[in-house]
Amino acid sequence: VAKILIVDDDAALRISFAKILQGEGHNVQSAASGEAGIEIYTSFNPDLVIQDVRLPGMVGLETFSRMKELDPSVQSIIMTAYGTTETAITATSMGAFDYLLKPFEIPEMLELIGKALEASRFSRKKVRLDADSEDLDVDAIIGGSRAMQNLYKSIGRVAPTDALVLVRGESGTGKELVARAVFQHSMRSDKPFVVINCVAIPETLLESELFGYERGAFTGANTRKIGRIEQADGGTVFLDEIGDMPLSIQAKILRLLQEKSIERIGGRETIPIDVRIIAATNRNLEQAINDGLFREDLYYRLKVVTLPLPPLRERLTDLPQLTEYFLRRLSTVPGMSNPGISRSGLLALQEHSWPGNVRELANCIQKALIFNRGAPISAEDIQSAIKGDRSCSAEAADTNENHGVEIIRRTLSSGDENAYANLMDRFSSMVITEALSMCDGNRSKASRLLGMSRPTLLSRMERLGLRVSAKVSSDNSSEKN
Ligand SMILES: Nc1ncnc2c1ncn2[C@@H]1O[C@H](COP(=O)(O)OP(=O)(O)OP(=O)(O)O)[C@@H](O)[C@H]1O
Ligand SMILES: [Mg+2]
Repeated sequence: VAKILIVDDDAALRISFAKILQGEGHNVQSAASGEAGIEIYTSFNPDLVIQDVRLPGMVGLETFSRMKELDPSVQSIIMTAYGTTETAITATSMGAFDYLLKPFEIPEMLELIGKALEASRFSRKKVRLDADSEDLDVDAIIGGSRAMQNLYKSIGRVAPTDALVLVRGESGTGKELVARAVFQHSMRSDKPFVVINCVAIPETLLESELFGYERGAFTGANTRKIGRIEQADGGTVFLDEIGDMPLSIQAKILRLLQEKSIERIGGRETIPIDVRIIAATNRNLEQAINDGLFREDLYYRLKVVTLPLPPLRERLTDLPQLTEYFLRRLSTVPGMSNPGISRSGLLALQEHSWPGNVRELANCIQKALIFNRGAPISAEDIQSAIKGDRSCSAEAADTNENHGVEIIRRTLSSGDENAYANLMDRFSSMVITEALSMCDGNRSKASRLLGMSRPTLLSRMERLGLRVSAKVSSDNSSEKN
């Protein structure tokens, strides 16, 4: 849920806009003039402001810059009719997230809002470095292991300098969290912060997104566009997944680092830029250089200050603390209380190698909470949660099938008199468990998925000794969907 403020003198637009955004689950307030907008702004403290450039009283641009002065971390989207595009472009060069040309399509608008909110979350949601953060509205980097202690020290040392920082680590080790922490502890924490995910943006769009373009630079470039790097002038740019950045753009980033300037696409003007860059990647950059996919000169510049994040399997001593943290966070969901974890549950966590690192652990705890019934999380809860995750990937499914054949062979050669019946029970359990897991424990949905009646499913579960928490989806609510 995000807080969004709409400032526009068109009442019909305000109302329909508010309806759409509330439908998306956001908390929306609106104002008809710049003055009213500023007043609501100070008390409401929105994550995003969507405003018209043409407003009665105070003009839109003035409203925008007043809000920026009050809180530079706020994101704004400017709405404009064709005739006033110039003003909207000026606003983006002053740090507005982007502008929307009226009339606009709703999906396009929602996509832009999504991106702006993501950027807002990045710069505004605080990250703490200390483990015993009781405040659940704040993200914390958890872990008391030596590797993590060293990381905190490095963040503390590096953040206040203006050095380029490279965050490296496997997927799910917390690179994004660390990047946010570096920004928030930097001298630029009250300046713009811009996030660019180099894999999420198609190669053809990435260059114009980063550097902007001049009117007429290519067909379709009807107006000038200010790129994200220019918008971040004075602040910080986070280049996520930099290992996946196309070579042509790597060259331009290198130039930005060396000359502290950029050129818009199709532009002749050299624009001086002062930004700090934080980059992250899970790629093996040395390998990428060998494969001709990453520039060596850029690599040497980037790697001077590297923050390496340890994989979870190398800091298993942090498991209890991390588990406790996720249990607390996840059980704030209505209808869920924190059941804690048993000793055997903790041991089961230690036995897994966590290829998906902390993200996998968080997912595992979430699943275990669905399957358990208020009792402390057990080893079985953990094991089925891990297995559930496994069967999602194609190769894992293959291993599961081989595992299945293995079970059949072993049972058949064990001299078990009830081999067939026992095997069938075993597979029934697996099928039903999987169906329940896919339906988040909802038995009505699972029975539909399995093509059996709900009473049949319930009696099978009873016979096979399968249980599922009724807390997450009560049977009443499940009948509705
Ligand atoms: N040390 C930690 N303490 C608490 N939460 C963590 C920690 N590390 C990671 N997380 C959580 O795990 C999830 C994944 O972290 P994050 O997105 O930062 O990983 P990443 O390294 O950027 O992964 P990817 O390479 O897949 O993008 C997030 O929900 C994050 O809050
Ligand atoms: Mg990431």
